[in-house]
Amino acid sequence: MSLGPILVFDSGAGGLSVVAALRHRLPEAALAYACDNAMLPYGVREDSWLVRRILAVCEAAVAASGCVTLVVACNTASTLALDALRSRLSVPVVGTVPAIKPAAALSRSGHIGLLATSATVARPYTLRLIETFAAHCRVTRVAADALVREAERWLAGETPDAEVVRQALAPLWEDPALDTVVLGCTHFPLLRDVLAAAAPREIAWVDSSEAIARRTAQVAAGVASHRGPGESFATARDPRLADGLAHFGFAPPQLLRVP
Ligand code: DGL
Repeated sequence: MSLGPILVFDSGAGGLSVVAALRHRLPEAALAYACDNAMLPYGVREDSWLVRRILAVCEAAVAASGCVTLVVACNTASTLALDALRSRLSVPVVGTVPAIKPAAALSRSGHIGLLATSATVARPYTLRLIETFAAHCRVTRVAADALVREAERWLAGETPDAEVVRQALAPLWEDPALDTVVLGCTHFPLLRDVLAAAAPREIAWVDSSEAIARRTAQVAAGVASHRGPGESFATARDPRLADGLAHFGFAPPQLLRVP
């Protein structure tokens, strides 16, 4: 059996929020990282274009990395293109979907928030998750695309803009009973402390990274051992991205050529 890394894919830096959980659960595993930073953000793009783009980028990144498993650490991509990716790629694909189920189980008041991209909050996949796992809850869906940029800025060592954060979160605070928020975009856990500081009360913030790591450990076979910085791939050159990736243990990105 050929050995290779687990490849983590996102539009940008968001997948790095899943890397810590993967390292914790699979400390010996080699990880690689790929992002489509040339086309960031995904959350405001048109669906059919996005499916084609995600297939092309993932196909190129899987080939370039020689990975044995692909983790799509992006809710926007997963809620749209998981089936297409699974039928196109020869490696197992682990997806990321908003953590509606654990959040609904955790909430005491029965009012939860979903903070995600415009695309994710409106997807049929997301609506089905809500119907299936949170039918007994009130779910306030909030599109917060502006926070994607703030998370990218945070990775580049800048301070997120407090006013942008305040405005993005404001719709969540209309009902004082809301007690649990699903971070339905992988960029948002990177800002968890900033979000918690901006909240008017104690909130349970729930993301999917533990569940993704658990699932990856079940499906990944033939994973190479971790030795030094993992390879990384990006679709546009950006020195600030290289610094951010270095903090998470990845080598500077190689430019990924996407047909
Ligand atoms: N990190 C991505 C997600 O989980 C999307 C960010 C974007 O490109 O809009 O949805």
